[in-house]
This record gives sequence, structure tokens and C-alpha cells, in this order.
Amino acid sequence: MKNYQLLIELFLKHLEEYKSNLNSKSPKELYEPENYILSLGGKRLRPLLALVACDLFDKDPKHALNSALAVELFHNFSLIHDDILDAAPLRRNKETVHMKWNTNIAILSGDVMLVKASQVLENYDFKEFKKLNTLFNKTAIEVCEGQQYDMNFENEKNVLVEDYLQMITYKTAVLLGCSLKMGAINANAPESDQNNLYEFGKHLGIAFQLLDDLLDAFAVDSEKFGKQIGGDIISNKKTFMFLKAVELANEKQQKQLAKLLKTKDATKKIEGVLEIYNDLKIKELCQIEADKHTAIAINCLAKVSANATKKESLKKFANELLNRQS
Ligand code: IPE
Ligand code: IPE
Ligand code: MG
Ligand code: MG
Ligand code: MG
Repeated sequence: MKNYQLLIELFLKHLEEYKSNLNSKSPKELYEPENYILSLGGKRLRPLLALVACDLFDKDPKHALNSALAVELFHNFSLIHDDILDAAPLRRNKETVHMKWNTNIAILSGDVMLVKASQVLENYDFKEFKKLNTLFNKTAIEVCEGQQYDMNFENEKNVLVEDYLQMITYKTAVLLGCSLKMGAINANAPESDQNNLYEFGKHLGIAFQLLDDLLDAFAVDSEKFGKQIGGDIISNKKTFMFLKAVELANEKQQKQLAKLLKTKDATKKIEGVLEIYNDLKIKELCQIEADKHTAIAINCLAKVSANATKKESLKKFANELLNRQS
């Protein structure tokens, strides 16, 4: 993990250089929110994955720094817009961009970040740029599709667990796969390795979102979590936990859940749903589902022909991601 700390520091230095150019830009309403969200921290998971993937094939991870920056810019753009969609007040323990400024500013500053995410890839030679940008654009479109399904499902009654898994694959998991594959492209790794690494990231991403949903309901350290706890329950998100609860509920609980979906009082709603989750041991089921996808991810990683010691570190990192509190 010490090695990963060095890679994160390498990325943060690159990010600081990028951010230093933002200060002088105008109009300030467009660039201040970008500086703000990029300065709030976060796990830096996606850029780390891009650097780790490049390093896995013994290529200097510095070469993947612009891929890392592209995926982190894209991720932060998606968070600014996601917080509008989810009416979220808090992000990384601070006000969300649309609350601190306003929705119009959040839309436009997000838009410019999306464009710049793809622009930083222009630093690569054309052949490499083409491969990276094709993957990046495909991924960005899938993320939008996933986000729209997520919104649609808020008002749908008959969402299946498989619909949910497809939705989180698009909104979250493909970006983890993309980050790793971009790093592998930077390392000029064989295509089969690029694809196995992508699949590893995709399944890791499914586990990651299952855990994000679990923490949204059950986080114990709210400061560490940094987001409004119970936000998914308030907005009737059709998470794995909610769908499992509907599936396992007895008649009384079914009626209760249907009533809770329409409840306006947020505190009562969260308490009511959590009581049913607890009675049905939903948290444990969600954890098991996440573990299942981490195991699939690790099988995909095993197929990658790369430095064995470095693969072992990545496997350890994947398992640790399941024990996170934020
Ligand atoms: C939040 O991602 C959005 C999801 C896909 C769950 P992260 O949990 O990686 O957010 P930061 O960047 O660490 O804040
Ligand atoms: C977010 O899912 C996925 C994207 C940002 C594309 P969530 O809505 O669960 O993410 P958080 O919990 O707000 O970070
Ligand atoms: Mg959200
Ligand atoms: Mg969302
Ligand atoms: Mg969430």
C-alpha cells in the first residue's frame, strides 16, 4: 500500500499543477466551482487505478498521469451533476456546488469539466489519444445512461435486481474499468490484458456501488462518509437493499414499505425503512452481494499477465475497498 501512497502523491502533484491554472481564469463563476470540488479531496480511486494499471506492466506510471487526470475530472463533473439530480446537500462534508452557488452554475461548471477531461487526453500522441478517447467517450455515454436509469427507477415499481445491477454497472462500474484500461493502454499492454483488467474494474465497481448504497443507509461515521445519510431512502432509490427488502417482506412489511415510499417526513421515512432493513438482515445480504462481485473481480485479475507482486497488491487493495467507511 505504501507504493499506492506514492502513486496518489504523484497524482496530487499533477492535479495541483492543473488547478494552479484555474485561478486566473474567467468568468470566475465557471472555474471557481471546479477548483472547489477538486480541492475537497475524495479517495482519488479512479486516477489511482489508471496509474496502478500502467505500473502493473512495468511502464513508468507518470506516463498515465493525463489519463488519471481525465478520469478524475470526469468523476468530479459527474458528482456536481449527480448532486443536482439527487438534490444532495452535502459532498465530502461540504456544501454541494448547486447549494453553494446555484443550479445554473453547477450545470455549466460541470459541463466545462467534462470537456476538459477529454481535452487533457490531447497531450498523448495521436494513436494513443485515439484509443483513449474512444474508450473514454463510450464510458461517458454509458455513465449518462446509468444515471438516467437511476432517475427513472425512483418512480418505477417493478425494478428487478438485475435491472439495478445493470444500472450501477453503467453509472459507476464502467468508469473504474475504463480507468484501469486507460492505464493499460498507456503501458501498451496486450489487448487481452487490457480487457481482463477492464472486467476486473467493472466487477470491482459493482461491489463499490453496492457498498456506497450500504453506507448511504448505514454509515456510522457520518463525518467520514461526508454525504447526507439516508439520502437514497429519501429519494426512493431502488437499491439492492430496497429491492431485497420488498422481495423478503411479509404482507405487513410490504404495506409498510409502500406507505413509506410516499412518506414526506424524512426522519420518519428513514427510520421506518431502516427498521425493515434491520428486521430482514438486508445489510448482511448487501455485503454478501458485494463480496460476490469482488470475488468475480479478483478472478478477472488473475487472468491478467502482469507482474505477480504488483497484482497481489492490487488484489489486496480490492479487498480493502470493501471495508471502507467513506
Ligand atoms: C462517489 O464516488 C460516487 C459513486 C460512484 C459512488 P467516490 O466514493 O469515489 O467519491 P470520492 O471521489 O471518494 O469523493
Ligand atoms: C453516483 O451514484 C454515480 C455517479 C456520480 C455517476 P450515487 O448518487 O450513489 O453517488 P453519491 O452517493 O451521490 O456519491
Ligand atoms: Mg448521489
Ligand atoms: Mg445519484
Ligand atoms: Mg450513493
